[in-house]
Amino acid sequence: MTVVDARELQAKVRDMYRQVAEEPHGTYHFEMGRPLADRLGYAPDILDRIPAGAVESFAGVGYFFDLADLREGERVLDLGSGSGMDVFYAAQLVGAMGRVVGIDFTPEQLGKARQLAADAGVDQVDFREGRIESTPAEDESFDCVLSNGVINLSPHKGQVFAEAARVLRPGGRLAIADIVSERQLKDAIIGDADLWASCIGGAAQEDAYHQAIEAAGLRIETSRQNPYQFISEQARNASGTYGVKSISLLAVKPGL
Ligand SMILES: C[S@@+](CC[C@H](N)C(=O)[O-])C[C@H]1O[C@@H](n2cnc3c(N)ncnc32)[C@H](O)[C@@H]1O
Repeated sequence: MTVVDARELQAKVRDMYRQVAEEPHGTYHFEMGRPLADRLGYAPDILDRIPAGAVESFAGVGYFFDLADLREGERVLDLGSGSGMDVFYAAQLVGAMGRVVGIDFTPEQLGKARQLAADAGVDQVDFREGRIESTPAEDESFDCVLSNGVINLSPHKGQVFAEAARVLRPGGRLAIADIVSERQLKDAIIGDADLWASCIGGAAQEDAYHQAIEAAGLRIETSRQNPYQFISEQARNASGTYGVKSISLLAVKPGL
């Protein structure tokens, strides 16, 4: 199988999500912002209470807060937090006694999220620079790990799930939305760094994706399809041919 050049891919991904932070109204292969969040199922009254700049740069692919079932005071980690919409949303749910950490490797996304948090005076959130394959967080230090539209971008998905399992406490939850495919993508798509950075080229086959989660020691409880569509013709064609789709899922770390 052809694998995309990892260094070229990282540069493309960073460049794409720098633009998403700086030019949220630009043209992309994918939909963004408040209309997308509304359609995916986010609660409008909660969206109204979080920084508008985070909502306009939202580039997730699904809703999972019903699966995450966050409670007051919980500690939450968001892998690939972007401009921070899910971090601010989670902060509303865990309240002042909770803590939400976002991790991202694109400096402009981090910079925007940190500025929005400072401007809004939201102090139970923390945005850390890091890679989701080697998470800057301690073992068993979170009740819930979230991630929205990010893990497909990693060529090392098994490592990402192993890291999620490591930082979750026993009984902790992994609640994510991501892009997967029904059929194996052809090499020309996998090797196209633009399509990879747009959340298509890195889509794992759904069964393999589920197996990678279970191999990390997490037990899948729910997996469902989301009302998500790509925008550009190229992306829609690839999506139609290979059954590229968005799923939300909940997995639990056994042991409680
Ligand atoms: C599609 S965006 C989604 C952002 C955010 N979750 C949201 O819903 O708006 C993907 C984000 O993941 C980040 N990212 C991609 N690969 C990463 C990696 N290996 N480590 C850390 N961050 C990564 C990108 O910088 C970008 O901000």
